[in-house]
Amino acid sequence: MRQIQVGLGDRAYPIVIREGALAGIGEDLRQKTIAKRYAVITDEHVGGLYGGNLLGSMARAGLAAELLTFPRGEASKNLTTVGNLASQLARLGFDRKDGLIALGGGVTGDITGFLAAVYMRGIPFVQVPTTLLAQVDSSVGGKTGVDIPEGKNLVGAFYQPRAVYIDTRALLTLPVAEILNGLAEVIKYGVIYDGAFFELLADRRHDILQRDLGILEEVIARCCTIKAEVVAADEKEADLRRILNFGHTIGHAVEAASGYSLAHGQAVAIGMVAAAELAVASGSFSRPEADRLREVIAAYGLPVTIPGNLEPAVVKSYLKTDKKAVGGRPFFVLPTRIGAVTITDDVAGELIEQVIEKLTGEP
Ligand SMILES: NC(=O)c1ccc[n+]([C@@H]2O[C@H](COP(=O)([O-])OP(=O)(O)OC[C@H]3O[C@@H](n4cnc5c(N)ncnc54)[C@H](O)[C@@H]3O)[C@@H](O)[C@H]2O)c1
Ligand SMILES: [Zn+2]
Repeated sequence: MRQIQVGLGDRAYPIVIREGALAGIGEDLRQKTIAKRYAVITDEHVGGLYGGNLLGSMARAGLAAELLTFPRGEASKNLTTVGNLASQLARLGFDRKDGLIALGGGVTGDITGFLAAVYMRGIPFVQVPTTLLAQVDSSVGGKTGVDIPEGKNLVGAFYQPRAVYIDTRALLTLPVAEILNGLAEVIKYGVIYDGAFFELLADRRHDILQRDLGILEEVIARCCTIKAEVVAADEKEADLRRILNFGHTIGHAVEAASGYSLAHGQAVAIGMVAAAELAVASGSFSRPEADRLREVIAAYGLPVTIPGNLEPAVVKSYLKTDKKAVGGRPFFVLPTRIGAVTITDDVAGELIEQVIEKLTGEP
């Protein structure tokens, strides 16, 4: 069992990481007296796998809980789902003394957090992330929101959970593609913040991919510690929090250019290699370290080149429309060594083009 505190003053909250954590959530919530009763919000798939466990834990603690589900997948992350869930809460008589539990991946966490932020102008919620991506990234930090046809995550709120419960055992039912999605973000933490952690990921790759729950607990704890530190220093992404976008500038462009056929983690993997190449070209990062980064990403089975069917010019055009671009100018998080990065919007357009072309269709 590991516990990490997200230090946000009177909104501070714990992240509990434990094999079998699900079974203890009811008792812990009873002691914390966060809410009178709860709605567990989950997608239909995760609800089928773990909804019963969680409701059982709530019942053993004598806490009333309802299970509300929606169809799985990013297509559900919209205002219609939020509206439907809000109506169900209202019909069940949920008020400001009641709370929500997000049980599932990042889609569920983002929907539930946003619903909690806006239902009756804000009710408490807790996160129970069940994908690796949600356990190391989306459940911590308080970014919530949904997609609209004009773009992903364009409607949302900063709204922190009251606690995060991470059960490593949930990872045993996760498809391998979803594990890899999360691992791209895991590698990201090593590069931006902790070179020793990066080397641990290189050394323990076999055990991690075999889903040894001991090493996974250590890895998740390290990622959550880093994210908690970054978020505590810069909750609303004015400055430091932007380092979490390492690999996401060109990554998002590649993801969008592929029409979202590339998984997010795959796009981030490519984006990290691209950022490393940009850093080498602009003289801030060494060639051997860029090669090392690429080698470890590839060893995990993540892509390190842009698929040959994507036009470099199209990829580049998506950089300008990136949501995080300021005045049409994308910013880049560039490594200075493995374990540290710098943020800049001063990268020559030709350099970006060269790197995108170099990485496209390369074996
Ligand atoms: N809020 C943030 O800070 C933040 C950060 C990163 C990503 N996100 C968001 O997260 C979303 C992606 O999250 P995701 O990758 O977790 O996707 P997801 O929630 O869609 O989960 C992926 C799939 O795995 C299934 N699943 C979940 N847990 C499972 C388990 N234990 N066993 C078997 N199947 C399981 C789900 O049913 C789903 O089909 C995106 O919408 C993205 O925008 C948010
Ligand atoms: Zn990401």
